[in-house]
Amino acid sequence: MTEQLTHHPGTAAVVLAAGRGTRFRSATPKVLHPAAGRTLLGHVLGALAPLGLERVLVVVSPDGADVEAEVATWDARMERPVTTVVQPEQRGTGDALDVALQALPDDVTRVLVLPGDTPLLRPETLAALLALDVQLPLGMLTTVLDEPDGYGRVLRDADGAVVGIVEHRDADAAQRRITEVNAGMYVLDRAVVQPLVAALRSDNAQGERYLTDVVAALAGSGPGAGAVAAPAAEVAGVNDRVQLAAAAAVLRRRHVDQLMRSGVSIIDPSHTYVDVDVTVGAETVLLPGTILEGATSIGSDAVIGPSSHLTDCTVGDGAIVHSTRADGAIIGGGADVGPFAHLRQGTRIEACARVGAFVQTKNATIGAGAKLPHLAYVGDADVGAGANVACGVVTVNYDGRDKHRTSIGEGAFVGCGTMLVAPVTIGDRAFVGAGSTITEDVPADALAIARARQVTKEGRAAGRLG
Ligand code: UD1
Ligand code: CA
Repeated sequence: MTEQLTHHPGTAAVVLAAGRGTRFRSATPKVLHPAAGRTLLGHVLGALAPLGLERVLVVVSPDGADVEAEVATWDARMERPVTTVVQPEQRGTGDALDVALQALPDDVTRVLVLPGDTPLLRPETLAALLALDVQLPLGMLTTVLDEPDGYGRVLRDADGAVVGIVEHRDADAAQRRITEVNAGMYVLDRAVVQPLVAALRSDNAQGERYLTDVVAALAGSGPGAGAVAAPAAEVAGVNDRVQLAAAAAVLRRRHVDQLMRSGVSIIDPSHTYVDVDVTVGAETVLLPGTILEGATSIGSDAVIGPSSHLTDCTVGDGAIVHSTRADGAIIGGGADVGPFAHLRQGTRIEACARVGAFVQTKNATIGAGAKLPHLAYVGDADVGAGANVACGVVTVNYDGRDKHRTSIGEGAFVGCGTMLVAPVTIGDRAFVGAGSTITEDVPADALAIARARQVTKEGRAAGRLG
């Protein structure tokens, strides 16, 4: 995780994530939709992680069990309490903040407030908001948009002081021409602002308690709100799947740019899809069509792709992974995989092994330097170092009811087209003749051939064809 920016004792973050997200037309809550390997909420929590806050509180709806589960994963990850509070009814952002403020412990004096649907936000921008004059009761992020429709507009007086925010739906024609918008991200002095939040009413176009009305309330009673300009690209909220795809593209692009700057070659960044938590070592080359997902980690000097799709995999230094689908696999340094390999859960390929075209592995260890050059299924199996598993070998691991294991010893040779009916063990340096169906263990150094003898009848084919 990114290093801590500054410590903020007494400051908590509140993330508002109880909204319905109706424009997604989804059974999944909006904030749980993924973009570049994290949920929308995960990106917001990730941006909070390096800020050195006291705690994080996420406001969820009463049916937000899945959101609570996501929050729990961040609680484990962020080394500070990340908890939830239920907003009983979705009565607006002000109501959500009211619920949160009532739930925060007394030692919290300052509160950073964020929406749950702004995945592009960067920690540096939040740090700038937190650095705003601590004497002000409220600081907010604003930005100027060419198309401000839908956002709350920032109202300023003749001296430029912020005096209020008017929601798009409540704004008159002149106010709608204002292009400075409220990003929906604030830092507030709890002692001053909590009573104002508690007093928020819902006499507006949407019949909701608007958090934004606090700004006008403050301006009318002493020092008002301070505004910090935020990059427009960072404050964009994701309200539907079109905006989700656009945000995901930005997140991926940021990550591949950062990888390239750290020494990774990416031949065509627009056709390389790398989730934000994926790590790649220097001098590695990512070829077009490559998709690296989840907790994948790639070493240095590797070549991945074209068209490799890796999910939660670990790849060692100098490995080649060409046109391969791999899920939960560990690929050792210098290994050579593909093209067209399928590595399923529990695959462990050790250093410099070769797993070639149309080989599928599952729950299998392939020892160092072993070779499976083509067309094989190796499931529930251990292949010893330096073994050679030739074309068309199948570990027959399933008897229709149970799975059984196959063990192939070090330096063993299993000839083409061999069926290894598990459970079965081929000893070290044993040799299995091509076309065998092996049902009994083969000891070390033994030769086994298990196939019907060939019958050849001279002349019997003459005249049969054509
Ligand atoms: C809000 C701001 C608007 C700003 C915009 C920036 C208000 C009234 N308006 O509008 O000025 O320009 O954000 O994106 O605050 N939520 C709850 N409980 C609720 C309602 C909402 O938790 O009862 C959460 C939502 O899940 C969401 C966040 O609050 O994450 C913002 O709510 P949303 O309805 O999206 O506000 P906007 O209309 O976008
Ligand atoms: Ca929104």
